[in-house]
Amino acid sequence: MLNWLDQRTGIVSMTKDFLTEDVPGGASYWYAFGSATLFAMILQIATGIFLCFYYSPSSATAWESTKFLIEKVPAGHLVLSLHYWGASAMIAFMAMHLLQVLLWGAYKKPRELQWIVGVLLFIVTLVLGLTGYLLPWDLNALLASRVAINISGNAPILGPAVLNFLQDGSGIGTLTINRFFGIHVWLMPALLVGLVGMHLMIFRHNGPAGPPIDEAPKLKPGRFWPDQMFMDTVLSFAMFVIIVALAVFAPVPLDDKADPNNATFVPYPAWYFLALYALLDVVGNFPPAIVQVATLFATIIGPTLLIVLLVILPFVDRNPSRRLSRRPWVLGVTAAVMAGAIALSFVGQSNVVNQQLAHNLIGPNAPAALAVTGNGSVQTGPNGTASTESSNTGSSPATTGSGATTYTNNCAGCHGATGTGTASVAPPLAGNDVVLGDPKKVITIVKNGLSGHITVKGQDWNGQMPAWKGTLSDKQIGDVITYIRNAWGNKASTVTQAQVTAVK
Ligand code: HEC
Repeated sequence: MLNWLDQRTGIVSMTKDFLTEDVPGGASYWYAFGSATLFAMILQIATGIFLCFYYSPSSATAWESTKFLIEKVPAGHLVLSLHYWGASAMIAFMAMHLLQVLLWGAYKKPRELQWIVGVLLFIVTLVLGLTGYLLPWDLNALLASRVAINISGNAPILGPAVLNFLQDGSGIGTLTINRFFGIHVWLMPALLVGLVGMHLMIFRHNGPAGPPIDEAPKLKPGRFWPDQMFMDTVLSFAMFVIIVALAVFAPVPLDDKADPNNATFVPYPAWYFLALYALLDVVGNFPPAIVQVATLFATIIGPTLLIVLLVILPFVDRNPSRRLSRRPWVLGVTAAVMAGAIALSFVGQSNVVNQQLAHNLIGPNAPAALAVTGNGSVQTGPNGTASTESSNTGSSPATTGSGATTYTNNCAGCHGATGTGTASVAPPLAGNDVVLGDPKKVITIVKNGLSGHITVKGQDWNGQMPAWKGTLSDKQIGDVITYIRNAWGNKASTVTQAQVTAVK
């Protein structure tokens, strides 16, 4: 059978060649990080495909489908947690793999291209982590991603175009989820698999680099099979056990549904972005005159320079020696960057914790918000209150709560997230005399819709405002009118459900 197969595909002799490859200087656990990363990638693809069957990318369904997956789908919470921790593992092992190659000078001639493909793989994986973070569409997903999207929006030249691609007039919403989803499940995985193929192909061509010494290794070479393969398997399996243990004992939490108006929730970034997050905080305290330049430097220019430096490293570092003692510059800079990143990550972590404490989100006074607990059940706040009402403890009830949510979900698309209106679509509601005037008139407009010429703040509008009485309940209409009469600097009386019901 194998002969038959080999004659037609060459697959058996290829595998044999591959497995009997010499490993200069003997097999080593140092080399196993790359294989473990590959294994983590396969795990991510397998769990990711499963998640795709249940996930529904839109602002009205993303959180709901994630919640359904967690609560109702057999093993759904487990697979989601495997995917979540698997991502961390993949990035951690990839970072160790990169560090090992860096320390051992394995990027040097003739392995420059393999190194560059590796750097690209690292970037692709970080983009995967970033885009995946938004998809559950809970408070943390939205608010943490908003930081990232604002950063990319500040990029010189490309910023506005990126922003335009990632969100519509009303801010981060379904459009953003769809873009992130496309990037996360199609674009980046395709690039990832293609680049990994290239990475392995070039590896096959050059063979392993061996230990960081300049003369040929004295130890007799080990074999890829079974020596290195055994170590690769041991490390990958250890990683898998850790991922499973984390998924079982620390399943991924789901916060309240995303709400752009929530001003009290403190988002926590993924650990691999903590350093960047802290840097953003640090430069935010710089004198106002330079804060903008400093932010640009910290978030865009700095990281870009770091990547460029990694890419050109094999061409800049032309020192042929791979001995650690003969490469003080590369090792010194690496150590400095690593120390900085680790220190900043700790700063970022403590910033997040302090802000959460300040907002009473954790600790004894924390509101009983929706939280997924260890055993996988979901607990709702007192009386099943709407998400934003329990977490927005800081501000007046009129400008938060279900009215804000109703506004975001139904009105912001036309009237703008902050009530400023959208040019040639819908008039502003902030500072609008009709909105602030007779409540009966506002109720009539929202219930029955409005068309024809109107003048708002000196500007002429002639559009079509939909009727909401079939879509929203009288309570929701009352809440949303109370909201638009008291948000964005507006101040007018609240509107009750009874008032809404009284108007036909
Ligand atoms: C499809 C876009 C769209 C959506 C969604 C929408 N509106 Fe409007 N709205 C309009 C347009 C257009 C007008 C102006 C109508 C006109 O020119 O006669 C308007 C007018 C209004 C006015 C009257 C303003 C004035 O000065 O007379 C109010 C109040 C209002 N909208 C509230 C809401 C609320 C509350 C919601 C959400 C429940 C909402 N709108 C959702 C498009 C929209």
